[in-house]
Amino acid sequence: MDATTSDRVVSELVYDPAGAMLPETGLAPGDLAWLAARLEAARAEVLADLELWHRGGPIPAEKDPLDAGFIDLPERLLEEYRTGGPTSLVGRLLQTAQRLRAEVDRVVILGIGGSYMGPRALFEALCHPYHNERTRQERRGTPRLYFEGDNLDGSTVAALLEMLRSDAGPWALVVISKSGDTLETAVAFRVFLRLLQEQTARQPAALAERVIPITGEKGALRQAAQAVGCREIFPIPRGVAGRYSIFSAVGLLPAAIMGLDVVRLLEGAAAMNRRFRTAPPGQNPVLDYTGVAHLMEWRRGAAIRVLATWGKRLEAVGLWYDQLLAESLGKDGQGATPITAVNTRDLHSRAQQHQQGRRDKLITNLYVATPGPGDAIPIGPCDFNGGALDALAHKTFPELLHAALLGTNQAYREDRRPTADLRLPRLDEAALGELFQMLMLATVVEGRLIGINPYGQPGVEAYKRNMKAILEAS
Ligand code: PA5
Repeated sequence: MDATTSDRVVSELVYDPAGAMLPETGLAPGDLAWLAARLEAARAEVLADLELWHRGGPIPAEKDPLDAGFIDLPERLLEEYRTGGPTSLVGRLLQTAQRLRAEVDRVVILGIGGSYMGPRALFEALCHPYHNERTRQERRGTPRLYFEGDNLDGSTVAALLEMLRSDAGPWALVVISKSGDTLETAVAFRVFLRLLQEQTARQPAALAERVIPITGEKGALRQAAQAVGCREIFPIPRGVAGRYSIFSAVGLLPAAIMGLDVVRLLEGAAAMNRRFRTAPPGQNPVLDYTGVAHLMEWRRGAAIRVLATWGKRLEAVGLWYDQLLAESLGKDGQGATPITAVNTRDLHSRAQQHQQGRRDKLITNLYVATPGPGDAIPIGPCDFNGGALDALAHKTFPELLHAALLGTNQAYREDRRPTADLRLPRLDEAALGELFQMLMLATVVEGRLIGINPYGQPGVEAYKRNMKAILEAS
């Protein structure tokens, strides 16, 4: 086991709002300085919330619920791993992931919303794009992964069940639900559990080893897990809500199963925390991102925030962020509307509107500065179609992608459309750890800035209650 401390990674993420500095439609260079005192007050409130949460309250009514426990979770987990090794949460989930790699060829992950989008984002960003089609050796022993329980679509559930039925290989079920009673996940759990029970009928111990629940302290899923006798039940700790749970077992166990470096992920998040706590506005990605987005919304009516991801791998990161922002701040008639765009794909669908449609958008480009090894495929020669493309033969795909980003920013600037850049140094665990933590912190800072409690989701609870009543009445 590697000893680790929470300060091994240095924050390298860059937030650059230069493209939002535009007369009439954007901001003036001094605007962020004007907001600095309020941003610092919001940061102080977020950090005071964390202290209050550690003290155990009392929580004032307007702050209830207060799920601030996510903020220093990365440092707490790293410290526990450093001192407790195999008995710590990180140690235990690494052992479970290793056991699953040895025992099964497929893992089905069930969950929805905050109990699903983080693992999905990690899978799409950091695993091989054709992971499930690779041989076991190419996958370095990691199982194939499938996501379900995130909808009520019988066709996809049926297709996965059929595949698991016809395939002789062993598989395991990771089921994630904090409340334990979210219908989509709960019904999927039933049908997949039933199949696994049938298939392991001759090995009585196998069911308890192949079902790994991640859940809250109480609830229907915990009870079911105890009835199954599950060998491991991983916690979603008190004070860590669904969409803020990526650095709990919710994100970390799937990441470990995928073979990702969970320690680097946590170290990246801890690096962002250090910067958030200490850097002044102007040098603090959390405060600067929040300030620019807030000023654009309140001064320029840019109530739509487009996270334009460049390349294909960050789409699910964008969808994770859509959920985080929408569910956290979309309350009391407030909250900007998040949209994920994937470029260059969406340059051929959404970009026309973003450039010349209503002036209600702030575009933030999310891109990776250094392409991955092997990404720099040259366009190269062709015996059959010469002409204009020959001039590009010496260029690589990342060079074309970057030219598209620069060209798009330039076109937007010429139309006085504000943009900002969010640059990751590389696409790896540490960089994504920084990014996830930055966006979670920015969301709670903004909530405190505009007087909206970023925790809880009262509207979603109402839909769940109504659906239950409709089903019971029919
Ligand atoms: O962010 C949230 O809290 C929600 O999106 C939840 O994660 C989602 O509703 C799933 O809830 P649960 O984990 O209780 O099944």
